[in-house]
Amino acid sequence: MKLGTALTASATKIMLLGSGELGKEIAISCQRYGLEVIAVDRYENAPAQHVAQFRHVIDMTDGGQLRAIVERERPEWIVPEIEALATDVLLEFEQEGLCRVVPCAGAVHLTMDREGIRRLAAEDLKLPTSRYAFAGSRDELGEAADRIGYPCFVKPTMSSSGKGQSVVEDSGQLDAAWDKAREGGRVDRGRVIVEARIDFEYEITLLTIRSPDERGRPKISFCEPIGHRQENGDYVESWQPQPMSGEALREARRIAGAVVEALGGQGLFGVELFVAGDRVWFSEVSPRPHDTGMVTMASQVQSEFELHVRAFLGLPVDTRLLRPGASAVIYGGVEGGGLSYAGLEQALSLPETRLRLFAKPLSHVRRRMGVALATAGDIELARKRAVSCAGKVRPHLNRR
Ligand SMILES: Nc1ncnc2c1ncn2[C@@H]1O[C@H](COP(=O)(O)OP(=O)(O)OP(=O)(O)O)[C@@H](O)[C@H]1O
Ligand SMILES: [Mg+2]
Repeated sequence: MKLGTALTASATKIMLLGSGELGKEIAISCQRYGLEVIAVDRYENAPAQHVAQFRHVIDMTDGGQLRAIVERERPEWIVPEIEALATDVLLEFEQEGLCRVVPCAGAVHLTMDREGIRRLAAEDLKLPTSRYAFAGSRDELGEAADRIGYPCFVKPTMSSSGKGQSVVEDSGQLDAAWDKAREGGRVDRGRVIVEARIDFEYEITLLTIRSPDERGRPKISFCEPIGHRQENGDYVESWQPQPMSGEALREARRIAGAVVEALGGQGLFGVELFVAGDRVWFSEVSPRPHDTGMVTMASQVQSEFELHVRAFLGLPVDTRLLRPGASAVIYGGVEGGGLSYAGLEQALSLPETRLRLFAKPLSHVRRRMGVALATAGDIELARKRAVSCAGKVRPHLNRR
């Protein structure tokens, strides 16, 4: 493995598809190795574009536009940061030997569709999941929900961040759930998954890395489990390590290891699992750093972003925890562009705290604009610190 020098003929080029806050940290990790970063998003001045040598604004769900940009820039690696991509052209790029996709095009293609990954986990790998059924019309949804039982979750097969999702308590709520899924789905294929509700005690993200060992053979490694709290399908708080029984942790690693091994490639994966006692259920997996994993910027020797970059470059990884940590989301709270942030002195006067402000040009009330990170001797104190740090940051619109 050799790395070149950015902005010279020897440059090792990385193209980020999706340039949000997670992409920004991936880009920063890449910059530390002297890589040349091309940050692509659907809008101007997305977070990762602030820390990249080159930037493009395209519709990444359009295979033609994606191919044109890749043929022009000729990156060595494509690093997807979001799900909503024309993944069929990523498969073509890899087949044509045009570039490598992280962790591999097959994993990116399969996981963007809830149906693909659910069938792989439950039917091929026989891993425990919630009971589920798929439906392609309003009538089929009725049959599927009656079969699965109530309450159940209805989700578009193509969606993320809780978009288009409903919890359905009885058949009277199915019309609304169907309409919401059709509006919230990424590609209106009108296909949904119905999942039985799992009564979990807590949910975790198990960051799982597939990367070469000293002899170049693929090896699976795990970070300490990350606990998190979700509101309306969006994470608001996370912490690491989530305490678990030895048996639950073994089962979580068995499940995550099996899924990641089946997906293949080189990189870091966020495996989402539900836990009750010693029982563990697979929920879903992102073949990339996970939003709940931002805590690792404070809690681990190497953050999930550093681990992702090291894994795809084929460099050694170290998943050790440094100190218990927590993260808390900072929302825009207002609608409008070019926010200012006050209260930072107070926020950062709390011990062992850090802030990340993403510099998203446009704010929405529930848009994630930043995150507070904290460490402490235990997760309870780390959580308190992160939440109060986040709470002291005051995003506001500039009024002249
Ligand atoms: N079958 C289920 N049983 C219980 N809770 C569930 C179930 N499915 C989803 N949830 C809850 O809803 C949250 C979001 O679900 P899921 O991860 O499937 O959606 P998503 O749109 O992919 O969200 P994200 O992109 O933020 O991960 C889960 O983290 C969990 O808290
Ligand atoms: Mg999820």
